[in-house]
Amino acid sequence: MHSTEIRKRFFDFMISPPRNHTEIENVSLVPVNDPTILFTNSGMFPLVPYLLGEEHPLGTRLCNFQRCLRTSLEEIEEIGDNRHTLMFEMMGNWSLGDYFKETQIKNVLKLYVKEFGLDPNRIYVTVFAGDDDAPRDDESIKYWKEAFAEYGVDAEFTEDIYNIPSLENFDKEHKFRIFPYPKKKNWWQRGNAVGELGGPDTEIFYDRGVVEVPEPDGKDHVNSDSGRFIEVGNSVFIQYRLNEQLQWEEIEQKNVDFGGGFERVVMLAQNKDDIFETDLFEEILSELESITGFGYKETEGLSEEEQKKVTRSFRIIADHIRGSVFILGDGVKPANKDQGYILRSLIRRMVRRARMIDLTANFTARMAQIVINKYREYYPQLGENEAMITDEIEKEEIRFSSTLEKGLKELQKFTGMGIKIDGKTAFFIYETYGFPIEMIIEEIKSSSVNDPGDLTEADVERITADFKAEQDKHREESRAGAEQKFKGGLADHSRETTMLHTAHHILLAALQSVLGKHVKQRGSNITGERLRIDISHSDKITAAEIAEVEEIVNKVISEGYTVEKKTMPKAKAEEIGAEMEFGQKYGDLVNVYFIKNPQTGEIFSAEFCGGPHVDNTGELAGMGTFKILKEQSNGSGVRRIKATLVT
Ligand code: ALA
Repeated sequence: MHSTEIRKRFFDFMISPPRNHTEIENVSLVPVNDPTILFTNSGMFPLVPYLLGEEHPLGTRLCNFQRCLRTSLEEIEEIGDNRHTLMFEMMGNWSLGDYFKETQIKNVLKLYVKEFGLDPNRIYVTVFAGDDDAPRDDESIKYWKEAFAEYGVDAEFTEDIYNIPSLENFDKEHKFRIFPYPKKKNWWQRGNAVGELGGPDTEIFYDRGVVEVPEPDGKDHVNSDSGRFIEVGNSVFIQYRLNEQLQWEEIEQKNVDFGGGFERVVMLAQNKDDIFETDLFEEILSELESITGFGYKETEGLSEEEQKKVTRSFRIIADHIRGSVFILGDGVKPANKDQGYILRSLIRRMVRRARMIDLTANFTARMAQIVINKYREYYPQLGENEAMITDEIEKEEIRFSSTLEKGLKELQKFTGMGIKIDGKTAFFIYETYGFPIEMIIEEIKSSSVNDPGDLTEADVERITADFKAEQDKHREESRAGAEQKFKGGLADHSRETTMLHTAHHILLAALQSVLGKHVKQRGSNITGERLRIDISHSDKITAAEIAEVEEIVNKVISEGYTVEKKTMPKAKAEEIGAEMEFGQKYGDLVNVYFIKNPQTGEIFSAEFCGGPHVDNTGELAGMGTFKILKEQSNGSGVRRIKATLVT
C-alpha cells in the first residue's frame, strides 16, 4: 500500500459516517501566538482554546495531518536507527466534548486493522495505572477488550508488564494484551502551569518480532527501548486541568486527542522493518546512493562495520534534510537562536555526516529539491518557497564546510602537540564546531600526527565521562531555560495578558489615527506585565504624539467599547480591511476581533487575532490607565513601543 493510499484511507475513514470528522488546517511548524514551544510538536497545540471549551467553527469532531518536529537532544541522538525521525506527520483526530473513550478506542483499532491492514494479533496496548491524582483507567481496559473481541482476539489485562509472548510466538495469540503504566508513560500534559490540560492516555504498540537492543536484565515489555514493540498511536483523554493549587481537577468538557505517527504506520503497512525503506524516503535514498556510490544496506567491498556507518549516515542525512526543508518552508532561516539554531544544527550535522562517508561535494540543495517535490502536493508552502529553501540550505552548507575544516585543524592542534585532550576541551570543540564526542575520539585515534597508541581505553573513558559531565551541566542550564520559556504557557490566558491583548488592538488603531494609515503591525509580544508592538513608521514618535495616542486609548477604555469575535474566511477579512501582521501566515478561516463604539456602532478596530480578549474595553480600567513606557527604533522604518496598564 503506497503512502498516498494510506493518507487517503485515514481521511476517508475519519470523514465518512458514522464518524463524520472535518479536516482542519495543517498549521506552521512555527507556532503562532504560542511562546511555550519552539516547534509545533503535536496536532493538539493549535487546539488548546477549543479543548478548554471555546467553540470551534468547524464543529466538535476534527481531524488532520499535522507536520510536527521534536528536537530535544535525546530525540536528536535517536536518529540513525530504523524507526525515529525528527520531523514527522501526525495523523490526528479530536473530539471536543463529543464522543469519548469507547468510540475512540473502537475507531482507532478499526482504522489500524481494517484500513491499514495491521495484524491485530501483533497489537498491544497500555493504559494509565492510576495514582493519587486519577484512578486507573478501567474504562479503557473494558473498551479495549471489546474492541479486540471484534477481531476474534482475546485480550486480557494484566498487572504483570513482563507477560509478553516469546519471540517465536510474536504473531500468535497471546491473551495478555493490556498493560498498566504510571504517569511517566501513560499521561499526557503540555506543561505544569496553572490551567494546563492533561489526562490519561492509551498507547498502541506493534510487535515487530525483532529485538534491536536487548534489555540489560533480559526482561522485555511493550514500552521498553528494546525496539521490539513500536509505538504507533496515542489516544489522550483530556479530562483534567491543573487548578490554582496545581492539582488535577476534572473538567466539564471531556476531550479526545489522538496522534499517530504516519511514517511508522506506513512502515508497518508496507511490511518494512525500516522507516527509511518506505516509499516516503525512496527518492532521497536513491539519490544518496547515486551521489556517493554506496548502497544503503549493501555495498560491495565494505566491511560490516563500514556498511553500518554508511547506513546510519544515510538515515541521518535523509532525516535531517527532510526536517530542514520543512523548517525552511515555514519561513525560518539558519540563525544562532531559537528555531533558526535548530535548523542550523540539523544542516551542520548532516554535512558532517556526509563528510564521514566521503561526500565532500555540496549536496544539500539537490537533496532539498527532492524533498520539496515529494511533499509539495500536501505542503504547498514548500513549493512556494522552493528557491529560498534550496538557496539557504546551500549557503549554510558552504558556511559550515569552512568551520568543519577549522574544527578538524583545532583538534589536530591538541593532538599534534601531544596534549592529551580532556573532556572540557572536547566539549568546547563539540559546542564550537559541532563535533560529537565519538567523532572527536575517532579523530584523535586516527590522527596522523599523534601516535594512535597514545590514547588508551582508560583515556577514552575519562574523556567521555568528563565530556558527559560538561554536557549534563549544559543540558541542565538549557532545560532550566526551556522551563522558563514554558512558564509563559497558559499564563497566556491570564486576566492580565488578556487585557493587554485588547489594549494592543486599541493601541494599533490609535497609532494609525495619530500617525497615519501607513502604520502596520510588524511584530508583537504580550506578557502579563506589558505589551510590545513593532510598527512600520520611520520617524521617532514625539512626546506630543505619544500623549495623543495614550489619550485615545484611555478614552476607548473609559467609554466601554464592545469587543466581538467573528470567524470568517480569510479573503472576506481582507476585503473588509481587517488588520493583519505583515509577513505573518494565517489559515483559510480566521478570527477577526471587532472593537466598536457602543453608542454609534462604528468600528474602531478590526484585527486578525487568535485572542484571548475581554468582552468590553471597560474591563481594562480594572488593571489601570494605559501608558506608553518606551518608544525606540527597531531597524530601519520600524519603531518598537512598549506599553502597559498602570494603577
Ligand atoms: N498529543 C498526543 C501525542 O502527541 C496525541 O502523543
